Amino acid sequence: MTSIKAATYPIHFNEKAYTELANLIRFNNYSSIFILVDDNTLTHCYPRFMPLLETDKTIEVIQIDAGEVHKNIETCVGVWNVMTELGADRKSLLITLGGGVITDLGGFVASTFKRGIDFINIPTTLLSMVDASVGGKTGVDLGVLKNQIGLFANPKMVLLDPEYLHTLSAREIRSGTAEIIKYGMTHDIRLFNEIKDNAELNIVDLIHRSIEIKNEVVLEDPTEQNIRKVLNWGHTIGHGIESYFLDTPNKENLTHGEAIAIGMVCETYISSKILNFPSDKLKEVKKAIHAIYGKIEIKEEDFSSITGLMKHDKKNVGGEINFVLLKNYGDFQINCKVPNKLIIESLEYYNS
Ligand code: GLY
Repeated sequence: MTSIKAATYPIHFNEKAYTELANLIRFNNYSSIFILVDDNTLTHCYPRFMPLLETDKTIEVIQIDAGEVHKNIETCVGVWNVMTELGADRKSLLITLGGGVITDLGGFVASTFKRGIDFINIPTTLLSMVDASVGGKTGVDLGVLKNQIGLFANPKMVLLDPEYLHTLSAREIRSGTAEIIKYGMTHDIRLFNEIKDNAELNIVDLIHRSIEIKNEVVLEDPTEQNIRKVLNWGHTIGHGIESYFLDTPNKENLTHGEAIAIGMVCETYISSKILNFPSDKLKEVKKAIHAIYGKIEIKEEDFSSITGLMKHDKKNVGGEINFVLLKNYGDFQINCKVPNKLIIESLEYYNS
């Protein structure tokens, strides 16, 4: 699988990536190496990773609790403290081994520790392979508000080893699939069609193509002033739903992908009303998302809390919610304003 060149770092695949990792560590002569894991990746991924890590440097493992609820500044303080106690210095390297929480939080911890040390992302979930580990966004949540604190900082390398996908549940794979559907709807309909129509997916090919698309967008607009907003397709309503479910004790937690999938149905509905997205394709999107993710109950009484949470979306400017909408598959428009009434209607459409 060919490597992909991002702005300042490579994304290497499969066995070759481990050789490149060893070369990078040797070349930079790091003083020590820290590996950030959570309970899951310590058990399921670390045993694969360690024998493949070729280095004579001192290695320390730092474990945090798994889950989005731990993606906060308190967890960062814990990691900074442990790094300090273990003598981390400016020539230390942090390797993040995990899903989006680990790569986002680890990148943030590294890029702020002593004003910034190198980090390498090793995504172990489909979601982090196709999205979080690439593109330089790092950060943590503020309460239930997603990714409110953070900065753009690039890793030194991303190591993509699809073998880690075998450690995931079907639900986690479906969560990552939502981001691939996103790239399909906004850039390359083949991705959406393959997921919709095929039982046997060539997942490595889908990952590679998804990263290619993301990388092209990020190269054009690394700090999301403009075109990168397209990568938030489905996320404006999706994040509102995800935060609401996180914040409401009697609701089961949705995965990121499940929330984004709902968001994509709603935002396709809004696109059909504002930009005339074709109605047959709208039906196709809803049918496919319901078939993959089932129908999650969003009660009418929850609607106003969800739209309230959307006011914190990072794309908003001057209190106005900014949407990405589609005229058609592969034809998008950023910075669209949407009346609240239509957002509510879109949630009703999802439920219908
Ligand atoms: N996850 C969207 C982005 O990286 O811009």
